[in-house]
Amino acid sequence: MTLFTCRFDAVIHFAGLKAVGESVRKPLLYFDNNLIGTIILFQVMAAHGCKKLVFSSSATVYGWPKEVPCTEEFPLSVTNPYGRTKLIIEEICRDLYCSDSDWKIILLRYFNPVGAHPSGSIGEDPRGIPNNLMPFVQQVAVGRLTSLTIFGNDYKTSDGTGIRDYIHVLDLAEGHIAALRKLDDAKIGCEVYNLGTGKGTSVLEMVKAFEQASGKKIPLAMGGRRPGDAEIVYASTKKAERELNWKAKHGIDDMCRDQWNWASKNPYGYGRSGDSSN
Ligand code: UD1
Repeated sequence: MTLFTCRFDAVIHFAGLKAVGESVRKPLLYFDNNLIGTIILFQVMAAHGCKKLVFSSSATVYGWPKEVPCTEEFPLSVTNPYGRTKLIIEEICRDLYCSDSDWKIILLRYFNPVGAHPSGSIGEDPRGIPNNLMPFVQQVAVGRLTSLTIFGNDYKTSDGTGIRDYIHVLDLAEGHIAALRKLDDAKIGCEVYNLGTGKGTSVLEMVKAFEQASGKKIPLAMGGRRPGDAEIVYASTKKAERELNWKAKHGIDDMCRDQWNWASKNPYGYGRSGDSSN
């Protein structure tokens, strides 16, 4: 039998459960999967002498920010177990680096990833009714859902709907490559970077952009605010631009075009029509 050993230079840790509502109903599932899974991963990395890490954190750690754009130095707070797992893992990473300066860690705080690969063959395919805006809009556009409920139109924003920083998944992917390169920097310890575009877009603006890209009308219903939702969240991207030499290139029209390309080619995602287990 041939035994061969693999060497790992670095790990990008993307894995984790991410549905906010489910995390409120099943906190232990989230703590078990996201926290215990991460601790075991770090133990295995240390055992193999691999101490370079890029971790997928989230803008959720900014809670309801007092001002925008959010800089990496803002105070952190969370409102649900999912967010708490992201914050605790960030803290674990900081403690890990304090205990052993061989670790080189980059925490990436994602804003709102949307879009799909431009080929139309890789995209998001949530199970059940989507929680997030754009997967929901996409399913209305292909006829799987009848209308989008807007969660609140009484925010202090230009059209009353919530504002977020949507980022194309291609830009997000490139942010990870930039972070991996940065891990070669001798001086890096445990650093955090926002991955966003620095631009805020309202729910209605996003729906309009998707209608234009798809040629489909998205029927709307006005609903109340979703508990835990912040009014306006968008990133300061200065630190990532300066230190990672990375900047998002795509705007919301590109995001909607690529998401519609994926949706129209794969209206039922990776599964078949009517298959709810996909
Ligand atoms: C949500 C999570 C956040 C998580 C992120 C993952 C909450 C409170 N926050 O962020 O912790 O990191 O997803 O991508 O769930 N909206 C509607 N109707 C819908 C869905 C959304 O109006 O059916 C609105 C929301 O109120 C919000 C915007 O669309 O203003 C974006 O919502 P969403 O895509 O769920 O992202 P976040 O709430 O920013």
